[in-house]
Amino acid sequence: MKLVRTIRHSLLLAAALVFLPATASVAADPEKGKEINGVCAACHGDFGQGGKRGEYPRIAGQRAAYLKEQLKSFRARKRINIPMYPYTQERELPDEDIEDIAEYLASIQLPTRPPVFKDTDDALARLLAMEKVMIVPRAEGDIGNGQKIYQKECAACHGRDGRGRGKFPMLIGQYTNYLKKQADSYLKGERPHDEEGATGILNALKERDIQDILAYLTSIQDPEKAEPVK
Ligand code: HEC
Ligand code: HEC
Repeated sequence: MKLVRTIRHSLLLAAALVFLPATASVAADPEKGKEINGVCAACHGDFGQGGKRGEYPRIAGQRAAYLKEQLKSFRARKRINIPMYPYTQERELPDEDIEDIAEYLASIQLPTRPPVFKDTDDALARLLAMEKVMIVPRAEGDIGNGQKIYQKECAACHGRDGRGRGKFPMLIGQYTNYLKKQADSYLKGERPHDEEGATGILNALKERDIQDILAYLTSIQDPEKAEPVK
């Protein structure tokens, strides 16, 4: 009885494989993603935590769809990134590799508070665990005003909690310097935000308001420490 079931099961499986459309996308390979990350780590850190106070952005835990889109956009030179351009050329980073690295990076969770160590954890284990802890220092600004504008103007795409949605990037847990640099390049029209035409949502805000939004974002990166919603 069991044998019959097993045979029937394998037949069904074989049939399913035969009928799988040739174009079905293959699941991303995390091992391959980890291997590719060796190249990225030189600038973005071993865990994708970024570095040099945001000159190299955090890429760990970012949304996979967004990572894929940005890598393709660097490759096509739609978004200019001189340090990364050589690594994103077709030969270096074909579409399959973009799938693997994006899914791998998206799966990395960086804690927002130091771990509780056990007596048996040695110095190296402690050091490695601490390297993963990602806490962006509180940015200066009016958190209440930032919250008001963020929830009204930005949350629809970037999420009420700043974690992003679909292809819209996560903004919390990213270096403030980096977000500010991106906001400046949107304002100057060097990087397209999400709108058609030259002026976007950020252009309608005062410089002060943008700083307040950045301050608010640093206040909600750790949900347990976030200020109560006013
Ligand atoms: C030589 C250094 C360098 C290497 C190597 C590098 N990057 Fe970058 N990357 C940068 C810099 C610098 C930026 C920020 C560009 C800017 O300021 O707009 C960046 C930006 C990014 C962004 C955009 C992040 C965001 O939130 O907008 C992604 C995604 C990214 N890199 C992924 C990767 C991946 C994946 C690899 C490995 C295949 C890699 N990078 C290798 C330097 C590097
Ligand atoms: C209609 C949807 C939408 C709204 C509303 C929106 N954004 Fe964005 N935002 C995007 C998209 C899409 C991107 C990625 C753009 C790209 O591909 O370069 C982005 C990217 C960003 C980035 C760069 C992130 C990174 O890692 O490089 C910042 C900073 C940002 N948005 C800030 C804001 C702020 C602040 C507001 C509110 C004032 C806002 N956005 C409102 C869609 C939106």
